[in-house]
Amino acid sequence: MSLTIALSKGRILKDTLPLLAEAGIELLEDPEKSRKLIFPTSQDGVSIIILRATDVPTFVQNGAADIGVAGKDVLVEHGADGLFELVDLRIAQCRLMTAAAVNAPAPAGRLRVATKFINTAKRWYAERGEQVELIKLYGSMELAPVMGLADVIVDVVDTGKTLKENGLEPRELIMQVSSRLIVNKLAMKMKQSQIAPLVAKLQAAVDARE
Ligand code: ADP
Ligand code: PRP
Ligand code: MG
Repeated sequence: MSLTIALSKGRILKDTLPLLAEAGIELLEDPEKSRKLIFPTSQDGVSIIILRATDVPTFVQNGAADIGVAGKDVLVEHGADGLFELVDLRIAQCRLMTAAAVNAPAPAGRLRVATKFINTAKRWYAERGEQVELIKLYGSMELAPVMGLADVIVDVVDTGKTLKENGLEPRELIMQVSSRLIVNKLAMKMKQSQIAPLVAKLQAAVDARE
């Protein structure tokens, strides 16, 4: 039986590989040094595909991958129908926050919010009864308040260095974020004999780090 695991380059790949290794799955080639997008592993039939981080839930939801690793920020924004979130891998930890220029007062009119997390931001402000104007961006969110495109941003913050170096400050915490192991619902049923032991080994590897 084959098993496809969807990961993204960068911190998720780097932090997931040691956990997979403890579960007996090792890459034979470094994806960071290759243009290939599909990689065999040390375990027969198990392959790893490399996607953009925001596309991992889409592939798993539709069964194009059986398993994936995605940030909670990405999962909440995407909506988690059609997949199980089985393990908190406790990697790629950060916080989803609002941020604005240091000491910037609230604007007189409607707040302009720039973010790639449009659904999450919309919901969060709506829960507060605040009508905001949402501006969709794909990166470099920190520039939006600096260049006058928006009053605040919604983005992930870890050390706060990126905010600081761009004259911004963190304001409100929206949620704590870490990466999760997600599994396609049908695959969970059809490939249970393969997936259940893998999930157990990954959970054990995470627990052993406590
Ligand atoms: P992208 O190309 O989408 O920015 P990343 O590898 O930077 O992909 O982010 C993947 C996930 O890692 C995010 O969804 C988030 O959960 C987490 N993350 C993002 N930035 C940081 C950070 N600076 N520190 C820790 N975790 C982060
Ligand atoms: C992420 C995020 C912030 C930064 C926060 O960027 O988009 O810009 O990390 O981390 P900090 O609080 O420690 O500065 P990333 O490093 O993923 O770069 P990217 O723009 O390529 O996503
Ligand atoms: Mg990033």
